[in-house]
Parts: sequence; structure tokens; C-alpha cells
Amino acid sequence: MKALITAGGQGTRLRPITYTINKHLFPIANKPMIFHALEKVAAAGVKEVGININEGDKELPSVVGSGKKFGVKITYLEQKGGALGLAHIIKNAADWIGKDDLLFYLGDNIVSADLKSLIDKFYREKLDCLLTLSKVRDPKRFGVPIIKKNRITKVEEKPQNPKSDFAVTGIYVYRPVIIEATKKIKSSKRGEFEISDAHTYLINKGCKVGYEEITGWWKDTGKPEDLLEGNSLILNTLRGYDVPFKNLKEEWKIEGAVKVGKGTKFKGNVVLRGPVVIGENCIIEDSCIDPYTSIGDRVEISKTEVSHSIVCDDVKIKDCGVRIVDSLLGRNSIVKAQGHTLPSGHKLIIGDNAQVEL
Ligand code: DAU
Repeated sequence: MKALITAGGQGTRLRPITYTINKHLFPIANKPMIFHALEKVAAAGVKEVGININEGDKELPSVVGSGKKFGVKITYLEQKGGALGLAHIIKNAADWIGKDDLLFYLGDNIVSADLKSLIDKFYREKLDCLLTLSKVRDPKRFGVPIIKKNRITKVEEKPQNPKSDFAVTGIYVYRPVIIEATKKIKSSKRGEFEISDAHTYLINKGCKVGYEEITGWWKDTGKPEDLLEGNSLILNTLRGYDVPFKNLKEEWKIEGAVKVGKGTKFKGNVVLRGPVVIGENCIIEDSCIDPYTSIGDRVEISKTEVSHSIVCDDVKIKDCGVRIVDSLLGRNSIVKAQGHTLPSGHKLIIGDNAQVEL
């Protein structure tokens, strides 16, 4: 079995973040999002991995590399003609897939499930296609199955009137017949070759399409708040206490699961309330880092409380006096207290499409 992971597309719902970074490289618990997918695939025992990228994308392959550090061999597959949909990704990868079975994994999905047990079910039940389902509050955002007598009879993509409260999640297992399906279907009204239409094609052809309700949590990180939730879910799996200091000073208070990278220094009164992860070579001074916060490398924080946030590499947060909460701070951004100028107010230097809540 080969695995194909998606890492292309426009990332429009995550702008402005995705203007300067491919969303699959955005850090979740201090690792590029796609690393979590690669770790899952490798843990399931799959060795050959294809990653679908946008035409001309050089950054993602340079960050992810050959796959050696995950114990897999990665082939990068450029999606020729543009981001034309999930079924188009498979059609585009047909030569690479060949006659092998396929684990198709949307690189912006974060799951706790063990993929090996899904693959085992696929072979045990001699399926042509295994779909994974998860109950959601807002099925209209997803592919939604119509289930009759325990069988999926159709999958509808982002339906106005969903026929169930299940979403088809972004983890699929296929026989190579999926390639035929992706070649036969037509582009949808929104101009994409929909994976849901390929699934309905397989059902209508009489293929054995099974399903499994995914165990544990599952997150599609389509929107900014999903990134924070995905980050919290991964941080919840953090255990113990891993800091680069021999002795803790009295003015440092550390509670819960905490991981701090080498070269990071604490100055003055520092409180960490886990789960929290802090990268390398940071300076945290007279500050409090609250649960579900990830802080990247070379970040400087002084006299500020940061809570339930993702702070990327090289950010500076200085003497804010107010709590920073539910925030995504992109690389190299600066957040600091306003100067003492009159008339008082907030001084803002904000790029296109930014979002600020005062
Ligand atoms: O997350 C599960 C949902 O994923 C399913 O329930 C839907 O049936 C399925 O269509 C998909 O919906 P999304 O709207 O969430 O898909 P999105 O456009 O966000 O793309 C998913 C992944 O595929 C993401 O990693 C970006 C990548 N992508 C997307 C397209 C359209 C590509 O690499 N190329 C593409 O052409």
C-alpha cells in the first residue's frame, strides 16, 4: 500500500496566514502540520508516500525532505493544471499509484485514530473503498454520506440539506479502481473534481464501499479557530516535563505537561501552565504562558500573559499588559505596548486581510 498526502490548494479560508506560508507547514504543537500526517502514515507501516503539491512549490519539499526522518520514501507530485479538486489529485497521481492500494490522507486533517486498524479492516472485509466518518455539528462543510440499512448509498459534497450528521473525514483507503472513478466523474458546479462524486461512482458501479466511525478526535483545520483546536488536541497528548534546566529557580512556577527547547532562557517571574510547548532559544521574561499555547523558536516574550494561542518563530511580544488569547501570531510579527503618545489609542500597522480584535 502507498499513501498519498495532500499539501496543495489555495488555503483561502486561512488568509492572511496562508499568504506567506503553505498551510500544511503552519506549526501545530511546534511541528509543521504535515509532519503529523507523515508520522501517522509511517506508524501504520506504509513506506512509500506521495505528497501532492502545487505546481512550482519548492518550499514544502525543502522543509519536509526525502522522508528519511519519518522512515518513509517521499515522492513529490505536482498537481498539473492547478488545484482542481481532491479527485483530480488522484487522477494526477495515477502513474505513481500504478496498481497499488492507496491510503489517501488530506494533509490538513489531524486525527488521533490508529490508521493501521483501518487498513486491517479494509483488507479483512475485502473492501474496494473504506470511508471514515465522524459526527459533526456542521455537516454542510463536508462530504456527507447517505446511509441506508448500514450501507452508504451516496456521498454528497457540502450539501445544503445534509441527510446525516456524519462527515466523511479526510482519511480514505482504496483499491486502484479509485483511479477509474476519478477519470470518469465530471467537474462540479464549483469547478472541482469532487472526491465525494468518485465515491458515489464506486457505489453505483457496485464496488464494496465500507465505512468506519473514526475513534478519538478528528479535526479538519480549514479555519483559524480549527488550527487552535487542532493545536490543543495535540498538546493534550503531551506528557511529563521536559525542560533544559538542571535547577528550577524559586520564581519559576511550572505546572502540568511542559516541553521547553534547548537554549531557551527564563528571566524574572515566569509561570508555565501546561500543556505548553516552547521552542529553542526563546527568552521568556516576567510572563505567564497558559494552557494550550505553542511557542516557536527564537520567540521573545516579556511582561505578558499568553493563553490558548499559537506563536510562530521569531515573534516578539513586549510588555503588553493585556492577556493575549485565542491568537495566531505569524512568523516575525511584533506585538508590543503602545508608546506614550497623545492622543491615546491603538497604533496599528496591519497588512491586507489581517484580523485584529481590540
Ligand atoms: O476534511 C474532510 C473534507 O475534505 C471532506 O469531508 C470533503 O468531502 C472533502 O471534499 C474535503 O473538503 P475540504 O473543503 O475541507 O477540502 P479542501 O479544499 O480544504 O482540501 C483538502 C486538502 O487537499 C488540503 O490539504 C488542501 C488539499 N488540496 C485541495 C484541493 C482542492 C490540494 O492539494 N489540491 C486541491 O486541488
